[in-house]
Amino acid sequence: MGLPLWRRLLARRAPLRIVLRQSPDWRATPHDELLDGSRAFCRMVGAATGLTENFISDIVAVWDATFALPYFGVRARMKDIAQDNLAAVAGATRVACDPALPLRGEGLDIFIDDDDWLHPETAALLARHARGADGYVFGNVLCESRIHLRPIEEGCYTNNYAVSRAQLRARGVASLTQHWDAHGVFHSVGFRRGQVPLYLSATNKHPASAMKLKDGLGLEPPDAARLRRLVEAYVEQSATAEVPPPAQWVAPYFERVRAVFAQALGRAPIAANPRTPASGVPLYRASAAEEVVRGAEAYGATLRRLHERLRPQVYLEIGVRHGASLALSHAPLTLGVDPAPEVTHPLAPHAQVVVATSDAFFADTASTLLRAPIELAFIDGMHRFEFALRDFINVERRAARHGVVVFDDVLPNHPTQALRERRSGVWCGDVWKILPCLRKYRPDLALTLLDTHPSGLLLVAGLDPDKRTLSDNYEAILAEFLNPDAPPLDEATLARDGAIAPTSPDWLDALDAQRARVTARA
Ligand SMILES: C[S@@+](CC[C@H](N)C(=O)[O-])C[C@H]1O[C@@H](n2cnc3c(N)ncnc32)[C@H](O)[C@@H]1O
Repeated sequence: MGLPLWRRLLARRAPLRIVLRQSPDWRATPHDELLDGSRAFCRMVGAATGLTENFISDIVAVWDATFALPYFGVRARMKDIAQDNLAAVAGATRVACDPALPLRGEGLDIFIDDDDWLHPETAALLARHARGADGYVFGNVLCESRIHLRPIEEGCYTNNYAVSRAQLRARGVASLTQHWDAHGVFHSVGFRRGQVPLYLSATNKHPASAMKLKDGLGLEPPDAARLRRLVEAYVEQSATAEVPPPAQWVAPYFERVRAVFAQALGRAPIAANPRTPASGVPLYRASAAEEVVRGAEAYGATLRRLHERLRPQVYLEIGVRHGASLALSHAPLTLGVDPAPEVTHPLAPHAQVVVATSDAFFADTASTLLRAPIELAFIDGMHRFEFALRDFINVERRAARHGVVVFDDVLPNHPTQALRERRSGVWCGDVWKILPCLRKYRPDLALTLLDTHPSGLLLVAGLDPDKRTLSDNYEAILAEFLNPDAPPLDEATLARDGAIAPTSPDWLDALDAQRARVTARA
């Protein structure tokens, strides 16, 4: 595991240290002390930014009376997200910027605020470009409600510079800690400045950051309605933010920031922020018995055979993650949808990944991007019954009558895997309910259950894009399947009763016959 050898060797040549600028413990520090700290911060940056001493402390009182999450609670969550990101920067060490900051040794130092992020491979990528300069400037991704790439040529921003340890010793830490000072140093006579043409840092300009509040509210006394509009605008606009290719690595962090502000507005249940490693996927692990998996063939192999037999022209995938299943598609129109994709598998050159939740995709961009009816869809996004159901409703509306929809995770191997709140690595949630739901509400559909590894597939054919039974009864269906007295996961599902071996040719032949009947009727 970890970085390839050549990257580790490069990183050793110019070891990277991430120096966290002053940052309070937002949860443990008493409220009054945090307010005093905010005044000290405003005094410190006042000359460069125009912030008045009480600018933040005045806002805190209005914020706490307006939103479901207190101001310092939001700041704590921003720090959680940044800490998870920085912890995932391979080959770098992290230190606090305090008077005890060690200055001996060689290497590069990056100064960073407690809500900003670095590319997970910053150490190796910087090392590859390091040519013995005194400091380097690299690309910065500005994450507001939209995501922009800042021109590299313009010099030092909040966190887009790395400086050699020797310069820190020679000039003193204070002259390089803040970007406005560093900018002067980098442009002073005799300073050997290097440029790295990569987007290695991101500035998280969320609506609780001091500068965003100043831009949004001006320096007038804060007002609850304006503050709420500012946060609403952020949550709404960020839902459809495009992530430029060089900034793909910010997507999972950006999505988590957006979720925090949706919680503050009361639009999403307040959750403890899941701590995520580099992959953006929280680490879950249950006992060996709870993590058990089975199946006659890996689901990827089954999907591959489905692609080969159907040769779809239009393929839609909900839930992409690393792109393993999306990479199987060679359909001329191949679309994946995921709010936090981390694609590592090589995709067909024309494949497109939309960075959005499936609900946002269907509400905003589906009608533009889906130029023809869907012939094959794979639903593997959020593992909760109501999400899978909505995904099916939305897909079927845009599907060809001869199309096929495949659900993943319909056969949990243990009750723990079927919990709605994730506790295990193998997690199916309550997507299994889709089978009894479709059996009851859509007896017209042809349903095939496949015994795939690790958690079963359900194939749905006989689609009818005009049928509205599911959407018309949506609330009633949720009330039936999500109420506490709804039938729990049964033994028959756990035993995979009725699931067909995916290696048998029968189900593909049956699918062909079914499609031929639909085509003949048309
Ligand atoms: C199990 S992974 C997908 C794996 C992929 N289909 C494969 O087999 O290689 C689930 C993915 O769903 C995404 N996801 C979570 N909520 C979603 C939503 N509301 N809409 C679309 N995707 C979602 C997650 O970000 C995650 O990447």
